[in-house]
Amino acid sequence: MASSPTSPIMCICVLLVGSLLSAASAGNFNSDFDITWGDGRAKILNNGQLLTLSLDKASGSGFQSKNEYLFGKIDMQLKLVPGNSAGTVTAYYLSSQGTTHDEIDFEFLGNVSGQPYTLHTNVFSQGKGGREQQFHLWFDPTAEFHTYSVLWNPQAIIFSVDGTPIREFKNSEAIGVPFPKSQPMRIYSSLWNADDWATQGGRVKTDWSKAPFTASYRNFNANACIWANGKSSCNWSSTSKDNAWMTQELDNASQARMKMVQKNYMIYNYCTDTARFPQGLPKECTATS
Ligand SMILES: *[C@@H]1O[C@H](CO)[C@@H](O)[C@H](O)[C@H]1NC(C)=O
Ligand SMILES: *[C@@H]1O[C@H](CO)[C@@H](O)[C@H](O)[C@H]1NC(C)=O
Ligand SMILES: *[C@@H]1O[C@H](CO)[C@@H](O)[C@H](O)[C@H]1NC(C)=O
Repeated sequence: MASSPTSPIMCICVLLVGSLLSAASAGNFNSDFDITWGDGRAKILNNGQLLTLSLDKASGSGFQSKNEYLFGKIDMQLKLVPGNSAGTVTAYYLSSQGTTHDEIDFEFLGNVSGQPYTLHTNVFSQGKGGREQQFHLWFDPTAEFHTYSVLWNPQAIIFSVDGTPIREFKNSEAIGVPFPKSQPMRIYSSLWNADDWATQGGRVKTDWSKAPFTASYRNFNANACIWANGKSSCNWSSTSKDNAWMTQELDNASQARMKMVQKNYMIYNYCTDTARFPQGLPKECTATS
């Protein structure tokens, strides 16, 4: 945008408002989210500090953020459906709207008691996904709350679990791979029945005698650019400490931790699935650096 003659006072106001809005906001479910479906099965409790979703034979439930975001560091703590969660899926993701939408997905696929959940991740850009990576976790995600984070900036999308990066999707626009960077996204979550495919390839069905199934959420924190009325709350040229995430990249130690998790806990990677891509792996998979 061309600079226009504005008084210095105006500039300072804009700057202050900008930095206030982009500052970290410790969340309250009442002010940050709307329950979108489930007919009473989703509940906001403890003055907005806790949210629970439930699923029974008649319906699942879900919520979405009031705000749309364009880049951010977004943390949420989840405690997943305990016991026999086979057939259930807890989806937690960011998505824009429309057929060429962008999406950043965490999906937790339940399992029979004693068998591990599968954490499924995916990235869509310009309506195209198919970039699945799946993991088992190094803890029981139903026993306690754990933090699942997305760092989304113009350089990369980094998925983390309890602060340990598990996946990085780098901006590979230089080699012609679209990267999510211009469509604002909302946060969505839902708990639903997917027993036709979710658990052990659909062989294990939901045991409805164990319903209702419940997943819990707390400590939402968004250090993010809020998109409203065609404008971002962030000031791109400001280098305030609050915006450090905007240029953050994985340092060598974090990269080493990520490699270790991938080596020990990754159970599927589209980037190594040569049978699926006989014409050659997707470009971002073979890019060096
Ligand atoms: C469930 O447990 C089986 C056996 O350990 C495992 O192969 C699978 O990845 C687990 N997750 C799902 C969603 O089936
Ligand atoms: C953004 O920040 C820079 C540097 O702090 C400042 O010069 C500029 O005026 C700010 N722009 C807006 C729109 O606030
Ligand atoms: C990180 O790794 C790169 C390449 O392996 C190396 O060149 C660089 O010096 C390392 N940086 C630090 C801070 O160790």
